Amino acid sequence: MEEKVSGRNHVLVVPYPSQGHINPMLQFSKRLCSKGLRVTMLTTVFISNSMHLQSSSLLGSVQLDFISDGYDEGGFAEAVSIESYLSRMEEVGSKSLRELIKKYNGCDEGIDCVVYDPLVIWVLDVAKEFGLLGAAFFTQMCAVNLIYYHVYHGLIKVPISSPISIPGLPLLHPRDAPPFVCNPSFYPAYFQLVINQFSNIHKADLLLVNSFYKLEDQVVDSMSKVCPVLTIGPTVPSFHLDKAIPDDTDNVLNLFELDSSPITWLKQKPPQSVIYISFGSMVCFSSHQMEEIAFALMATGFNFLWVIPDFNTKNLSEEMGKKIDACGRGLIVNWAPQLEVLSNHAVGCFFTHCGWNSTLEALCLGVPMVALPQWTDQPTDAKFVQDVWKVGIRLKEDENGIVTREEIQNSIRVVMEKELGRQMRINAKKWKELAIEAVTQGGTSDHNINLFIKHLKKS
Ligand code: UDX
Repeated sequence: MEEKVSGRNHVLVVPYPSQGHINPMLQFSKRLCSKGLRVTMLTTVFISNSMHLQSSSLLGSVQLDFISDGYDEGGFAEAVSIESYLSRMEEVGSKSLRELIKKYNGCDEGIDCVVYDPLVIWVLDVAKEFGLLGAAFFTQMCAVNLIYYHVYHGLIKVPISSPISIPGLPLLHPRDAPPFVCNPSFYPAYFQLVINQFSNIHKADLLLVNSFYKLEDQVVDSMSKVCPVLTIGPTVPSFHLDKAIPDDTDNVLNLFELDSSPITWLKQKPPQSVIYISFGSMVCFSSHQMEEIAFALMATGFNFLWVIPDFNTKNLSEEMGKKIDACGRGLIVNWAPQLEVLSNHAVGCFFTHCGWNSTLEALCLGVPMVALPQWTDQPTDAKFVQDVWKVGIRLKEDENGIVTREEIQNSIRVVMEKELGRQMRINAKKWKELAIEAVTQGGTSDHNINLFIKHLKKS
């Protein structure tokens, strides 16, 4: 039990309202609470209503509260475009956040510090209007933030169409860089969103990043020369116990309906005999790509557990679903307890889109990967998975942009059966141990969280 921190200790944590951003900020909030801070984490009114949450709800020791993003009835799906969502979220969200800070400041629970996701940069502006300490929390890997920093400052020109060299990073071909900077005119709103993270960063008192020093040492050193960051991750719950078993409160903010049946199913499978497939909360594949994946999985001969959230089920034909049922080795679910799945010894490989949370979770649980990155930070994460950390294989697309069943099947076989796959498993175990070292008392990430707390106390 750690000492209770007295004096300035109430932190407001504000994630961007999507699963991949809520999860790491919730875990970080819990870590701050375990060190004696008082933490209130915000979600949107829409999320709270859909989950039937009250503003007094507690997630462990983290208190929940809500602000409006302007779309209380339908959330993001209600907006006509990402542009209109972002601009209304800023307008309505700023007002709502001001009211909320006033509410707390009007009683003896005043807010001392705001930890915000830089995808919602306006949160920092509001925090500064109230004279509060503001800490940015980058949910993605440091390398990706360094790329965006270079683009924001015009140090690399967009669109990126030839290999780029950034100190601390391996040479990045366009296919390794975030698509937002390779094709900004295709993603104008997302391009602005990720680049503008740096537009008011000079006002932030601290910059935190969900990574750990040894995982990205050269990148962190390079970034710290221009924009000092503190690594505080990985924010994966209790992975140091060899099993990441989320507590009930971790599942409260699942935006998808959880199906726990995979855990019983996995119990009946031999060690390292199962492929776990999940492409996170946003990636949607075409029917053609889904068919290639389905055929490849059946052809490998391994057992497989495939997460297909509601928004993508229409792209797997009924006929294919029947074939998978008939083969008797596959289980398809809407949303799985991913951490428990990756902790299970039956899982031999993770076929993933390389979202940053999934990548960190696989590293922390020592599971090698087959990577099929799609957009945002995922191609850069996959580049590091294959070439820097050597814990996986990145799949290649054919001339039509499809990853064929042969390519998928061959790569899965390498990871599951071949010497290269065995080596990847050994490497993954090494990263897992280094991740444990970072978050253990006195480790780099633990030390940096303590620095954050010291900063809060002396400000
Ligand atoms: C998004 C982006 O796509 C990603 O690239 C970015 O790094 C973060 O924001 P998402 O696509 O959802 O996130 O992927 P990821 O970062 O992997 O986060 C998914 C989270 O949902 C993980 O924490 C994972 O454990 C969890 N999950 C996923 C489940 O709990 N169950 C599932 O069945 C699938």
